[in-house]
Amino acid sequence: MSAALLALPGQEALAGTLRAALDVPALTLATRDFPDGETYLRIEGEVKGKAIAVLCTLHEPNPRFLPLAFIADALRDLGAVSVGLVAPYLAYMRQDARFMPGEAITSSSFARLVSRQFDWLATVDPHLHRWHALSDIYTIPAVALQAAPLLAEWVRVNVEHPVIVGPDEESEQWVSGVAAAAGCGYLVLKKQRRGDRDVTVSGLSKHDWSDRTPVLVDDIISSGQTMGQAVAQCRSAGSAPAVCVGVHGIFAPEALAALQQAGAARIVTTNSIAHPSNAIDLSPLLAGAVRRFWQGVGHPPILPR
Ligand code: R5P
Repeated sequence: MSAALLALPGQEALAGTLRAALDVPALTLATRDFPDGETYLRIEGEVKGKAIAVLCTLHEPNPRFLPLAFIADALRDLGAVSVGLVAPYLAYMRQDARFMPGEAITSSSFARLVSRQFDWLATVDPHLHRWHALSDIYTIPAVALQAAPLLAEWVRVNVEHPVIVGPDEESEQWVSGVAAAAGCGYLVLKKQRRGDRDVTVSGLSKHDWSDRTPVLVDDIISSGQTMGQAVAQCRSAGSAPAVCVGVHGIFAPEALAALQQAGAARIVTTNSIAHPSNAIDLSPLLAGAVRRFWQGVGHPPILPR
């Protein structure tokens, strides 16, 4: 089947490695903002009759989503056979319940919007907590890839005598997989979040440590508060300086500096979001999933709507 990759601006590095792994041509996108704030979009390259994968990681989703939805429509208009979304970071997964009366459950609203625009979705370690699977909220074939084997391989090569540490109970799903694949033990700490930037992490005692280097593993580093507090916990338990490994490095302003100040020995992320800390390449993982969608493996063939 004839196929192509179209990447939205801002992910050129990952687009290059993913395109090479898929061995398909790239479509290019010409875009600019009009003076009134609306967006001009033009897809350059042959679309008709092709299966198209659109690469758009979805941190800072609000300004990204509208152009993305327009592009999916335009690709269909131009005759694409199918239009899939590769969103290494999937937004709006954390508001998965109504914690206060009147709150919007944005994870399901966002899932409905994406499901209307795309034929399939591939993402990496979405924040599945109260939702147990993407199929709880996405109505298209959607795959949640796991970065744990890649994280484990990085740890195995780069850290001597590691112990994997999860900063909160939710992280056990990632931490246990990384520890198993890296062949070492793991611990899970307790987190209390009172506000966006008001977090405490506890649950570590001095006897938890011997000659091990703590490797903190979490799905998201956003404000950096969770990782920062966990780094500080490790330090006060007398450990060697902790290495921080995040799947998705969102890094709000000052988060990186705060983590460094807390005493992190090294901060490493996957390239789901372009950042200087990127050290783990997701493209082989993503390429495998895209190929399976294109070949119709594990789901009905993706047909035109
Ligand atoms: C929360 O449940 C996630 O797994 C992460 O621990 C959290 O999103 C990290 O956020 P921050 O860096 O703002 O503490």
